[in-house]
Amino acid sequence: MPARLATQLAAFQEALARVDSEAALYELQVAYLGKKGTVTQLRGEMGKLPPEERKGFGAEWNRVRNAIEAALEERRAYLKEQARRLDLARVEDLTLPPLRPPAGTLHPLSQTRRRLSESFQRLGFSLAVGPHVEHSKYNFDDLNVPKDHPARDMADTFFIRPHRHPGFDDHTDNDAAMRLRAGELVLRTHTSPVQVRTMLTQKPPIRIVALGTTFRCDDDATHSPMFHQIEGLYVDRGVTMADLKATLMDFTRDFYGRRLDVRFRPSFFPFVEPGAEFDIGCPFCGGDGCNLCKRTGYIEIGGCGMVHPAVFEACGIDPEVYTGWAFGFGVDRMTMSQHAVPHLRHMFEGDVRFLEQFP
Ligand code: PHE
Repeated sequence: MPARLATQLAAFQEALARVDSEAALYELQVAYLGKKGTVTQLRGEMGKLPPEERKGFGAEWNRVRNAIEAALEERRAYLKEQARRLDLARVEDLTLPPLRPPAGTLHPLSQTRRRLSESFQRLGFSLAVGPHVEHSKYNFDDLNVPKDHPARDMADTFFIRPHRHPGFDDHTDNDAAMRLRAGELVLRTHTSPVQVRTMLTQKPPIRIVALGTTFRCDDDATHSPMFHQIEGLYVDRGVTMADLKATLMDFTRDFYGRRLDVRFRPSFFPFVEPGAEFDIGCPFCGGDGCNLCKRTGYIEIGGCGMVHPAVFEACGIDPEVYTGWAFGFGVDRMTMSQHAVPHLRHMFEGDVRFLEQFP
């Protein structure tokens, strides 16, 4: 074999042994067999040889090129196989259980809201909803709340100033909004306006609960400017206060999972007559008196009473024909008493250390 060819072949073989990737292999191929590769160039030199040597050189050149091509191919197959094996080895123990991303849980208030609505749905009530931004007619007037009632005070109620929404004309009835006078729009201070909305659109018998967010200018250990209520309303012929008490006793047993003492205390709400506060026997001390019930043995759940005839009249229901009762309970308060949560603030801070305790 001509010396120059032998040198190239030896150099190629040495370089090939060091190749450890398909990319490097390709570079090597180009360096020897590419257009300007060293072996390719040797072929061009053939023309300079005396004619009798040409043939032999050509045959040798072909052998060298074939040998290089074969070696490249072999090396390429080997590298591919090695890469495949590495890839398979990388897939670790397939029998390991997958890592599950930690799932969140329902907020304690949402849990209470679900349980409340389930309890009342079992008792035959359906769910009704109403807006958070409410007209004072539904929040106060139709509920027989007089114009000078303290609840209407700026210090108790969040009033909303009507204003134009520039650029929102497609979605917002700006003209209707501007016809509202100051003091006519409020963040609903209770869920009772849902009573009015229901009675204006449905005829008795009516049996609904409304569950949702309510707002008042209040902030301390047991009050928050945003809180939650559940409202119940039952209207039909011959509904009495005895039905109210029986329903609330059934509900209490269903919700707390056992029989608890219940009591009515006479109280005043403009939209009921007679009106009462509804208390349950403290679920923690069984009525003996503890910190949670402030040593009274009872926990206050909310207000209730027989729907006032003036409310029926405002809603177009004949008070001579129909009677009904309503209640409004504090959902946050019920949740706090159920889990012995000391401060209402915990409910709305979103602290994971608190929320984790309600799986
Ligand atoms: N709406 C009353 C409140 O928020 C509760 C209530 C509802 C009382 C229905 C009587 C009847 O305090």
